Amino acid sequence: RVRRKIQLVDFLLSFRWIIVIFFVLPFSFLYYFSIYLGDMQSERKSYKQRQMEHDENVKEVVKRLGQRDATKDGLVCTARPPWVVVGMRNVDYKRARHFEVDLSKFRNILEIDTERMIARCEPLVNMAQISRVTIPMNLSLAVLAELDDLTVGGLINGFGVEGSSHIFGLFSDTVVALEVVLADGKVVRATKDNEYSDLFYAIPWSQGTLGLLLSAEIKLIPVDQYVKLTYKPVRGNLKELAQAYADSFAPKRW
Ligand SMILES: *[C@@H]1O[C@H](CO)[C@@H](O)[C@H](O)[C@H]1NC(C)=O
Repeated sequence: RVRRKIQLVDFLLSFRWIIVIFFVLPFSFLYYFSIYLGDMQSERKSYKQRQMEHDENVKEVVKRLGQRDATKDGLVCTARPPWVVVGMRNVDYKRARHFEVDLSKFRNILEIDTERMIARCEPLVNMAQISRVTIPMNLSLAVLAELDDLTVGGLINGFGVEGSSHIFGLFSDTVVALEVVLADGKVVRATKDNEYSDLFYAIPWSQGTLGLLLSAEIKLIPVDQYVKLTYKPVRGNLKELAQAYADSFAPKRW
């Protein structure tokens, strides 16, 4: 048998733990810690202040879009670097000529409306941030994605799904209004039944191609402190398995 020659890549593979432990781990820690500090800073601001900042930041985005020369500048996209994105999407378009709009300030929870049972969030609000605020109020997003660093914007423009989705649908199905800035700088609020309803239904899974999301109003549900999970093994033929699966979808509380 011919022995394969040991190549550099084999060497790197067997010593990858050095890179993981001494570089990737410390870097990840610092990265997540900086996000956490930013979240804390956001939580210290009053809702009123966050809403004021939101209005200011929206104005800045509109101004930035106004600077775009459609004949020279490339397509509009966010300035978010591709390496922070959680997903399998190919982000090569960010290597091509493009016109960046910085949305990094859009990371505040703007309102928790306990009467309408709505959380109004900016797109970079992450799941850890929202559960830290709503869980002590005995509330939760109807579909709360389990990975802490997933963002509202990603879960809407991409797609989000979690265990409770078999009752409430995808993350985007729990959204009741979207505030979007269109390519021409117009800011609109799209809902199921207003004049921008086409946009409301088209934004989920659009990967940010139709406009930049500025905030979203998302359904909240009351939650208890603990979740009781029942695992129910099912045995039988395909038909019985399928029936048991279908039965598990029957909403019990809502
Ligand atoms: C949340 O629920 C717990 C347990 O039922 C209760 O003790 C607590 O007062 C509730 N908190 C709020 C803010 O309603």
